[in-house]
Amino acid sequence: MTASRDFAETLAKVKPEAERLMAQYPQKRSALLSILHAFQNAEGWVSPEALAAAAEMLDLPVSVVESTASFYTLFFRRPVGQYVLQVCRNLSCQLNGAEEIMAYCREKLNVRHFETTYDGRFSYEEVECLAACDRAPCMQVNLEFVYDLTREKIDEILLAMNAGNFEVAPLPQTVKPDVTWFVAHEGEKKSPGAQGVSSPNDPGGIGDPSGRQMIERIVRDPRLVEARPTAERLVRDGAARLEAGAEH
Ligand code: FES
Repeated sequence: MTASRDFAETLAKVKPEAERLMAQYPQKRSALLSILHAFQNAEGWVSPEALAAAAEMLDLPVSVVESTASFYTLFFRRPVGQYVLQVCRNLSCQLNGAEEIMAYCREKLNVRHFETTYDGRFSYEEVECLAACDRAPCMQVNLEFVYDLTREKIDEILLAMNAGNFEVAPLPQTVKPDVTWFVAHEGEKKSPGAQGVSSPNDPGGIGDPSGRQMIERIVRDPRLVEARPTAERLVRDGAARLEAGAEH
């Protein structure tokens, strides 16, 4: 079955919901994110056809819809596995063991950042702050939060998913995903301001240039975080992580 044949069915399913959503706002363009979620719930991802259909319904250029969808890791813009594990790689999670959690997920699933297992069951991605820093380290599974991650918790979650009794439902899978959805390296095409900024394909963690730069700035200038109750710990633990990371 082709993606476009599937999409006619998807569109018939999503359209009434999209019309209901658009009617809730004085300006129908305000329904954009909800409509993209509706397509994703129906298809398991937001296909190019879905972006074009959303643009048509909302009287928006496709480029506006596409740039909105691409801003968020909430939208899967390529076919993905039935379970998408998005582990936070940002600062609070880093300081609470995210690096170990990410390494464990990669090892258990035998995948890297931006990859899907060969059976098409699990996709894995390392993402920026999920706004659940008080329960770090954390991740989202099919956009549902899983907090306070440990290796044991990862084991339990994967077991439950494989047994078909995990509390979060699997995504529908209308197209078999490729093993990787690595972004092609932009290289020299980057704007001058973006040159030297780490690639979205970087694995994250203290070894990632952007994560390291952030921790270095805080350790160098603690005033950046001094208004926060956790400032002392951020600086102390950050310095320790830098020292440990320097050995790699
Ligand atoms: S740093 Fe991980 S949720 Fe904020």
